Amino acid sequence: MESYQFFLIILPGLEDLAHQELMEKCPINEVQVTKGGISVTASLDWMIEGHLKLKIPTRILMRLQEFKVRDFPKLYQKFLHLNWSKYLSHPTPNWEISCTQSRLNHTGRIEETVTDALKAALVRQPLSRDWEKKDFPPQTFYIRLMDDLLTLSLDLTGLPLYKRNLQQLKGEAPLRENIAAALVFELFKDLKEEEVVLVDPMCGSGTFLTEALTFYTPLHLRSFAFESAPFFKGKMLKKTKTIEAHGLVSKAQGFDLNQDLLSKVKEEVKNLPVEFKNQDSVKTPIQHEQSIIMICNPPYGERIQISGKRGVFLKEAWKKFLTIDKPLRFGWLLPKDMDDLFSKPAGYREVSRRSFRNGGLAVTYWIWERI
Ligand SMILES: C[S@@+](CC[C@H](N)C(=O)[O-])C[C@H]1O[C@@H](n2cnc3c(N)ncnc32)[C@H](O)[C@@H]1O
Repeated sequence: MESYQFFLIILPGLEDLAHQELMEKCPINEVQVTKGGISVTASLDWMIEGHLKLKIPTRILMRLQEFKVRDFPKLYQKFLHLNWSKYLSHPTPNWEISCTQSRLNHTGRIEETVTDALKAALVRQPLSRDWEKKDFPPQTFYIRLMDDLLTLSLDLTGLPLYKRNLQQLKGEAPLRENIAAALVFELFKDLKEEEVVLVDPMCGSGTFLTEALTFYTPLHLRSFAFESAPFFKGKMLKKTKTIEAHGLVSKAQGFDLNQDLLSKVKEEVKNLPVEFKNQDSVKTPIQHEQSIIMICNPPYGERIQISGKRGVFLKEAWKKFLTIDKPLRFGWLLPKDMDDLFSKPAGYREVSRRSFRNGGLAVTYWIWERI
């Protein structure tokens, strides 16, 4: 079977979790983890499986070419002779161009040159009219020039993978689905107890809960850019229309102050085993019969207004969760500049502490476990 080079784009700071997910769901020998991504050598079947099963990557690219180039005539010639008929599905693709430490560094002129080369190539090898008949969207090609080495890649995903098409509605400051998936995946790692319920005491649109409940459910509710590419022609993606919960946990509860949001979210995810309740989780104990695993992304005060001094509310909430609700494990996501407020909770040991950027803001994700 023909093999290809793929590059999975991963949010920096989540690479190890994305790698573990990959090895668990669609293991492969040739894998290399780098900052911001994972390179994989695999078949098209693996690529399809990866798109359907992997919840942590942002998108998947196919590496098409790599060559040294220091002048525009060579760039033109290389693009003119590319095997476009195998990859191209639309005559006017988008180009994402970046250059570092290279002789060719004018992105505008690079785009002009490759566009001209592609036009000339299409005169020699005309494109099938499928794109008009079937209304294919333009593809995106990535051109990266580093130390005069050009890498050309094709985006296979289209809308980023965190667009699951499960929920349209989002509250204020929602977490991206792929970040939520990574954090719940880590939270459940090596957990001995089986009969647990996942609780988010400030759930907003419930992203942690839906991602945990569907972590092993394939992404069947959306399409991908590769479905219109010539190399995919004749293959079929077997997708079901119903979405069944197959996750890290089989039961979840979400609480929030925002009643209006909760009732809309409830309607959207009514097929999933999750209960929503309107309550002030800082004042009211979480009622539960089973052991709970808790995860929380509280309002930081930047995007969502909270009354009083910023740290005071968060400290009060944190203390209440750990001393009154007493989850078996607790995942807590908050701005990095508040790290010193939350170290060493009594009765808990630190399992892990991870830093990354959430929408431009440096954050820390802590996991504690009850001793
Ligand atoms: C940052 S958002 C959570 C976003 C969520 N992770 C998501 O992906 O949609 C914080 C949420 O906490 C809720 N909240 C704030 N104070 C609360 C309290 N005392 N009790 C319950 N919910 C609260 C807000 O209404 C808001 O929806």
